Amino acid sequence: MKTLKLIKVIIVMALIVTIGSCQTQTKKNKTIPGRKWWKEAVVYQIYPRSFKDSNGDGVGDLKGITSKLDYVKSLGVNVIWLNPIFASPNRDNGYDISDYYKIMKQFGTMQDFDTLLAEMHKRGLKLVLDLVVNHTSSDNEWFKQSRSSRTNPYRNFYHWWPAEKGKPAKRWSYFDVDHNAWRYDAKTNAYYLHYFARSQPDLNWENPKVRQAIYKMMRFWLNKGIDGFRMDVIPFISKDTTFPKLPAKYHGNFIDYYANGPHLHEYLKEMNKEVLSKYNIMTVAEGAGVTSNEVLNFVNPSRHELDMLYNFEAMGLKRMPGTPSFNLVAFKEIYTKWDSVIDDKGWGTIWLGNHDKPRMVTHWGNDSPKYRALSSKMLTTFLMTMHATPFYYNGDELGMTNIKFDSIKDYRDIETLNAYKHLKETGGNIQKFLDKEKLVARDNARTPFQWDTTRNAGFTTGHPWIKVNPNFKTINVATEEKNPNSVLNYFKKIIKLRKENLILVYGKYTLLDKENPNVYSYTRKMNGEKFLVLLNFSNHNASANLSFDMHKARVLIDNYTSGPTAENIKNFMLRPYEAVVFKL
Ligand code: GLC
Repeated sequence: MKTLKLIKVIIVMALIVTIGSCQTQTKKNKTIPGRKWWKEAVVYQIYPRSFKDSNGDGVGDLKGITSKLDYVKSLGVNVIWLNPIFASPNRDNGYDISDYYKIMKQFGTMQDFDTLLAEMHKRGLKLVLDLVVNHTSSDNEWFKQSRSSRTNPYRNFYHWWPAEKGKPAKRWSYFDVDHNAWRYDAKTNAYYLHYFARSQPDLNWENPKVRQAIYKMMRFWLNKGIDGFRMDVIPFISKDTTFPKLPAKYHGNFIDYYANGPHLHEYLKEMNKEVLSKYNIMTVAEGAGVTSNEVLNFVNPSRHELDMLYNFEAMGLKRMPGTPSFNLVAFKEIYTKWDSVIDDKGWGTIWLGNHDKPRMVTHWGNDSPKYRALSSKMLTTFLMTMHATPFYYNGDELGMTNIKFDSIKDYRDIETLNAYKHLKETGGNIQKFLDKEKLVARDNARTPFQWDTTRNAGFTTGHPWIKVNPNFKTINVATEEKNPNSVLNYFKKIIKLRKENLILVYGKYTLLDKENPNVYSYTRKMNGEKFLVLLNFSNHNASANLSFDMHKARVLIDNYTSGPTAENIKNFMLRPYEAVVFKL
């Protein structure tokens, strides 16, 4: 009897404590202005082609993703961004859409999609789809109609230049073998515009019918219940359609000219009014060519356009073969500038890798056996402690590395293959190109996801569409799940830390010791609380030049198995690639 009473008292006390702490949490969080689910999210990007193959054809698919949702959920992420899953001849791996209303055959059926979405929602995961509307595939029915005659109702869905006006002014193309973005089409004696491959003609957004057709398609997917869009090269949709000669200052830097066309913000506002504003979703622009001076035009909520934009400025800090590191001072300056511009007037993003970039650890860290795990964890610490929504690429949570193909035969990407052809035709230096591709080629990040130590890393029972990285025997989910100190388990741990401490999401970011070439240090501050983040980007011991009283500082997370010594804490000394987060 007495024991029962005691148990009751304990339960009641525990309840009081829990409710009390929940209330302080809510009270604290209530003082955070502008809270949104997508600001507190960690977005996990899945490259469907390489994630998990369910039917043995060597290509990842939707059923494969569904079968791995428990894994994704276990990471602690809450939003999945899928690269394009729509019908496509796959000349640019789905970024060339032939039918916006159909699922790519290799990926499955609409039924598979509905199941995937339902299974995600069941687990509290949200889904963001890729919106590719600067261009379609040349196999799209709209383009087939458009190219069939000059009087076809779809003619104006694309940009045509009648040949009798002479050659159109030069426009550079990203993926064209000849670098030429105008392609002559004999059928109607005219040129069409394609900023990307010739199989990716650009849509004509000047035409209100194009815009309405796109909005209709967006509603179709939103009405299915998806939770947002990642907008592919969206700043390119508006163009000066008189196509004047490209001003000389843009030669070699045409992305600046292609972005932010004259009617871009008009179109985004219209899209917001007609579609986006009607749903509780998140939107993020691929901010190709957008500078920090322009970002607020996209993401300031009072403008009613988009929620977020991801920029490429730091991506310009190239690492070349043989260089152990990059310019950290410049790197810090870039992230600090973007943070201060956006401040509380909008919301930012943070990322270090995706399907268009090399692997995070190879590019920004150190993929040698000695430092791969440590530097992966350090970079992850950066992503998860910044004042922005992290976009995290599948496989980086395992510390997957560049595959570094030796031969052009192993590459699948149209960008690499066409650049290679161009070099061959123009007599360029092939070996130099191949060496560089080992570091920068997009295929480095597109090799199959490494699930376990079985054949093809457990990705497929068939023949994979692109080679599996031979390091899968050590870098894979099964092995890393078992190791408490793995890159994978560190990823889960730091996501939990971010979720439990909204200061890591909303707290004010302040850069410290900015000239330090090795250590990136900053504080996050909110409601009287302060966290200190120290990241050593170098492969040697390095210290930060700071003057906090560290007596009461508590280590919240550290990427070394043995935490920092009292001496190191006192001197702000870090071991190679060490990352520590303190509560001050
Ligand atoms: C974006 C995509 C990239 C694609 C290109 C053309 O940059 O991320 O993968 O090749 O647009 O659609």
